[in-house]
Amino acid sequence: MENTLNFINSKTNGLIPEIGIILGSGLGEFADEHCDVAVNYSEIPNFLKSTVQGHKGRLVFAEISGKNVVMMQGRNHFYEGHSMQEITYPVKVMKKLGVKTLILTNAAGGVNKNFKPSDLMIITDHINFMGTNPLIGPNNADLGERFPDMSEIYKKELIVIADKCAENLGIKIQHGVYFASSGPSYETPAEIRMAGILGADAVGMSTVPEAIVANYCGMKVLGISCISNLAAGVEGAQKLSHAEVIETTNAVKSRFKSLLQEIIKNV
Ligand code: HPA
Repeated sequence: MENTLNFINSKTNGLIPEIGIILGSGLGEFADEHCDVAVNYSEIPNFLKSTVQGHKGRLVFAEISGKNVVMMQGRNHFYEGHSMQEITYPVKVMKKLGVKTLILTNAAGGVNKNFKPSDLMIITDHINFMGTNPLIGPNNADLGERFPDMSEIYKKELIVIADKCAENLGIKIQHGVYFASSGPSYETPAEIRMAGILGADAVGMSTVPEAIVANYCGMKVLGISCISNLAAGVEGAQKLSHAEVIETTNAVKSRFKSLLQEIIKNV
């Protein structure tokens, strides 16, 4: 950790970011538009090198609406074969850099029948169905406690702010529970029916490990999903493809970016 922090601080002159953002599919552009200093993951000691195709894989620092922000342009996923500890390491780094509020974004399949592709959904809670937990292993008491409370990962005060921001911009917003499966295969219709019965509104392959670790470290978390497709077997759903996910997130990105900017201004 010391090596990682020293290296990043040498690139940023020790700048202290108060807001962290993990940019999901389709949102990478936000970091291109707000970039004061960029550091490639491949250069950072202890960071994973690989990222999903189409993501840049860099940490981007910028002042946005008067706030110091650090963004992950591209994230690592559990389905790539990395450990939970590896994929959540950057969240711990953000905490050590000074981040107090972490905004997590992603693309997700809509399970709730009232959702349609291109909706934005504020995550109110999650179900970890990845079959493991990023906090397994020796506990670092310096970061958090062994058995951390998860009663309010997605802070109500941030949800209220995000709702107001959406309203100000005239953006319709959904709320719901995010269900995380490991991927990389999309779910079967039976799995999606099960997720719905268990209380899921949307399903995806990221975010939950990062949210657990951020909450454990004492960061306030806000999560926003772009509903990129109807989940498997939902009435009206088509055969799932990554191309559809990318197409929808691209179509939504200008709305998503303005919402993000408004939230940064107001948190
Ligand atoms: N399932 C899981 N992950 C996803 C989906 C989905 O339908 N859409 C985007 N990410």
